Amino acid sequence: MKKGIASGHRPQWNTHIGFLLAAVGSAIGLGNIWRFPYLCYKNGGGAFLIPYFLALVIVGIPFMILEIGLGHRMRGSAPASCAGASTRWEWLGWWQVIFVMFGIVLYYSVIVAWSFYYLLLSFGLDWGADPNSFFFNDFLMISKGPFEVGNMRLPILFSLAVVWFLNWFIVFRGVVKGLERANKLFMPLLFLLILILVGWSINLPGSSEGISVYLKPDFEKLKDMRVWIDAVSQIFFSLSLGFGILIAYASYLPKKSEIVKDSVIISIANCSFSLIAGLGIFSVLGYMAHKLSLPIDKVVSKSIGLAFVVFPKAIGMLPAFSQLFGVLFFGCLLIAGLSSSVSILEAFTSSAIDKFHYSRKTVVSLLAIAGFIGSTIFATQGGLFWLDIVDHFLTQYGLVLGGILECILIGWIYKAYVLRGHINSFSQLKLFSWWDYSVKIVIPVTLAVILMNGFLKEVTSPYEGYPWPALALIGVGWVIFTLFFAIFVAARPWKDY
Ligand code: PHE
Repeated sequence: MKKGIASGHRPQWNTHIGFLLAAVGSAIGLGNIWRFPYLCYKNGGGAFLIPYFLALVIVGIPFMILEIGLGHRMRGSAPASCAGASTRWEWLGWWQVIFVMFGIVLYYSVIVAWSFYYLLLSFGLDWGADPNSFFFNDFLMISKGPFEVGNMRLPILFSLAVVWFLNWFIVFRGVVKGLERANKLFMPLLFLLILILVGWSINLPGSSEGISVYLKPDFEKLKDMRVWIDAVSQIFFSLSLGFGILIAYASYLPKKSEIVKDSVIISIANCSFSLIAGLGIFSVLGYMAHKLSLPIDKVVSKSIGLAFVVFPKAIGMLPAFSQLFGVLFFGCLLIAGLSSSVSILEAFTSSAIDKFHYSRKTVVSLLAIAGFIGSTIFATQGGLFWLDIVDHFLTQYGLVLGGILECILIGWIYKAYVLRGHINSFSQLKLFSWWDYSVKIVIPVTLAVILMNGFLKEVTSPYEGYPWPALALIGVGWVIFTLFFAIFVAARPWKDY
C-alpha cells in the first residue's frame, strides 16, 4: 500500500448516518427527478419497475458493495485504491476522477445554476406566459448550433458563480464540517420538500390520470432490449457508480463498518426517492393535461424540457400559491444537484491529497476556479448544444467503460474473493460467493452489451444528426485526452511524509 494512505491522517465521518446521508446525497441528483419518471413512462410504466429492480439487484447493489468495499479496504481515494489493488492500475482511478471532474461536473453544475436562477424567478413567476420562448430565447438566447458559441449569458454566469462558490465552501470545510454537515441538512430537507410537493400535486385535479400513465404496466415493452439497457444505465448513473465517488466516501469510514447493509440502504433510499418524485412529476403533468384538455402524451417531456419549460408552465397554471410551488420545486433541484456535485469535487480532492499531500484548501480552491472557468463554455449561447453532446458521450461511454475496467481490476486481478473476505470480516450481513461471479462476469458483460449497443446505434444513426467528425472530436477526443492525462498523473511519484 502507498505511504501516507494508511498513515492515520485520514479524516473520518463523525457519525455513521453522516456517511449514509452523504452517499445518498451523491446518488440523488437531477437524474432522479427528471430522468427516472420519464424513463418509466416511456418504457412500459409499472412494467419498467421489473428491469429496474433487477438491474438494481444484479448490477447496482453488487457494484456499490465493490466500490464501498474497495475504498474501505484501501482507505484511499479511487487512484490510491486502484494502486492498492494493483500498482499498474493507478491510472484507472485517476481516469475516473479526472473524467468526472473535468467532464460531468462542468455541465452538471450549469444545470444546477439554471435551477438556482429559476428558483429566484419563481418568486415572481418571471418566466411569463410562454416559458418555452422565455427559456430558449430570453434566458439561454440560444444560438443556431454548437459551432456558434455567441456571447456569455450573464444571468447564467452569475448563477454559476454562486453554485461554484457553494461547491467550494462545502468541500473546503472538509469531510466532517463540510460534507457531513451539509448533507445532514440537505437530505432531510430534500425529503421533506419532495413529500410536500408530492402531497400537494396528487391533490390536484387530473393527477390520477397522470399517475396512471406513469405506472400503468405495459408488459409488451419488456420485449424491447432498449428498455433493459435503459434500466441498467439509469441504475448506474443514478447510484453514482463508476465515478470513484463512493470509493472516496468509503475511505472515511471507521474500520468496523457494515458495507453490505449500507450499500442496500443507500440504494433503496435512492430508488424510493425516484419513485416518489415520479408521482409528483406525473401528477403535475396530469393536472396540466386536464387544464389544457389535452391527452397526457402531449404534455409529457423529459430532462431540461420538463424542468425548465413544462414545469414553469404548469406552475403558472396552479390555482393557488404558484410561487411557493416553484420555489419548492427548483429548491429540490438545487439541493439534489449540489449534494451530487460536491461529491465529485471530493472524489478529485481526496485523490490529489492522497498522492501529493497538497493541502485540502489549496486543492479545493484551485479546483473550484478551474471548474468555474471550465463550466463557462456551457454558459454561452451555444452552451445547450455542448451540454447535450458532452452529456451524451461522457455518461454513455465513459462511465460504462470505467465500470468494466473496475470489474476487471477487482474481479480478476485483485480477485473478488479477497475483497469479499475483507467485507465479510466486518459485515454481519455476509456476501455469498455469487458476488464474485457478479463482479467477474455478470456486471462487466452487461456493461459491455450496453457499450456495444451504444456504438452500433451511433454508427447507424448519429446522435441528434450532428456530423460525425465533430462528435468524434468532442466525445472520443475527450475520452482519450483524459486517459493520457490520467496515465501521466499516475506516473508521478507518490509523495512521502
Ligand atoms: N447520481 C446523480 C444523479 O442521478 C448523478 C451524478 C452524481 C452526477 C454525481 C454527477 C455526480 O443525478
